[in-house]
Amino acid sequence: MSALARSAARVPSYGCRAWKRSVPALVKPTPNGAPTTASGVDPIHFSASWSEEQIRNASEGHALLTWSPSKAVESMPVMVRGDGIYLYDTTGKEWMDWTSQAVCTNVGQTVSPRVKEAINAQMDKYSFVYGGLALTEPRARLSKLMSELMPTGLSGFVFPSSGSEANEAAIAMARRFTGKTKILTWYRSYHGGTSASSSATGDYRRLMAVEAPGFVKVWNPQPQFWEFGGSSEEERTASSLLMLEEQILNEGPHDIASLMFESVPGSAGVMKLPPGYMQGVRALCDKYEILLHMDEVMVGFGRTGKMWGFQHYEGVVPDIVTAAKGLTGSIMPLSMTAVSDDMKAFFHDNALGWGSTFQAHPTALACGYANMLDMLEQDTIGHVERLAPVFEQHVKELARHPCVKQYRSTGLFGCLDVQTVGGEQPQFTHQPKTSASLAYAKAAADQGLLTFFRPPVIHIAPPLIITEGELEKGFAKQHAALDALDEALGF
Ligand SMILES: Cc1ncc(COP(=O)(O)O)c(C=O)c1O
Repeated sequence: MSALARSAARVPSYGCRAWKRSVPALVKPTPNGAPTTASGVDPIHFSASWSEEQIRNASEGHALLTWSPSKAVESMPVMVRGDGIYLYDTTGKEWMDWTSQAVCTNVGQTVSPRVKEAINAQMDKYSFVYGGLALTEPRARLSKLMSELMPTGLSGFVFPSSGSEANEAAIAMARRFTGKTKILTWYRSYHGGTSASSSATGDYRRLMAVEAPGFVKVWNPQPQFWEFGGSSEEERTASSLLMLEEQILNEGPHDIASLMFESVPGSAGVMKLPPGYMQGVRALCDKYEILLHMDEVMVGFGRTGKMWGFQHYEGVVPDIVTAAKGLTGSIMPLSMTAVSDDMKAFFHDNALGWGSTFQAHPTALACGYANMLDMLEQDTIGHVERLAPVFEQHVKELARHPCVKQYRSTGLFGCLDVQTVGGEQPQFTHQPKTSASLAYAKAAADQGLLTFFRPPVIHIAPPLIITEGELEKGFAKQHAALDALDEALGF
């Protein structure tokens, strides 16, 4: 065929060929090389330790924060050492960890010999085995142990790296197992910063991202600006459950995969559920064939004085449990998604629909397993249970400060709701810090208290290994910081 004939053959019968157009040239060619040998990087990287100035310069030059503007890097202490519930900065100042970092360093800052030994022994064996290619002993051990620490009926486990990822996996599995789409979550909740977990989140952090479809928010049984009707707790529980049922019916139970709730909403402010509420939720799930997913990322592994937060609700066993932080005491990143026997059986023959390279990372698993053995042997959760009444009494005494509207406390997890002189919220979570919030933060820092204030909520969540004497010391510091807040708010 001649060239002309070939060209004619390419003309579509409807006579529409693309126009001639030149491809844009690279306007600003930018060097994109990077060193590949030691001689190409700053020799400072090969010095054993850095001065405070070197740390600050590199951090201020390159480190970004996540949920707050990064300029805060400039005023942060530089931590060099930890011991028990304390951290020490470059000036030698002692900081009491009053919030267990992100409510996660449950066993404090001293890494136990068993955990160190387990991590090192694991690394001596091999660097990494991908969970989709082979089995490992730490995965077998931790899976078995977790099945023993869960109530009967929860027997299948995956081990991602963060709480957000555990929730991503749980959401994907709930949808694949039920063939349904919608996930119902509370407004007053936090489930993570990745796509699905952020869309599941109810608090202000969700509003910074683009929400994925398929997530529906429902009211918590404790709204912020109004109260459920009824003259008794039971009546109020019933009205909040009826509202939930109406929402379920309006959304269409045939397309709701799961109700995904924090067993004890943590970031929202240690919310306590009205009596009978979670039993009612379980009953609604059973009635409409919806999965119940309990997010235990913040409170799982003993924060509330029980292994799992859902154990505060007699007779309630979820279909899915996600957990993270306390599993390794945050020494290494590791999380867990536990699913029911039925779900485990389904995924025996079907792929999960979620994955990550570091799922079931052997070194992280070995760390989590050793940490759990420590916690079980030392009865860490029994210690929390025994200390809880003392802790609650201290939290209650904080309520004498006029800036404290009310308090809640469960296990070693306490919180204060702060108010203005007029009894209103002094600041909303999405707003920039007010001068009163800054005055509180400064007073706490002066006391050497690492504390967490997301107005109107002040969290109190020390490591679970704290002693009664250390509690006394911490609460004295907390009183001093609240004196400053009283004054800053004009009381
Ligand atoms: C209840 C809950 N779920 C999920 C997450 C997300 O966990 P991570 O920050 O490890 O991704 C958090 C974190 O605070 C949480 O509190």
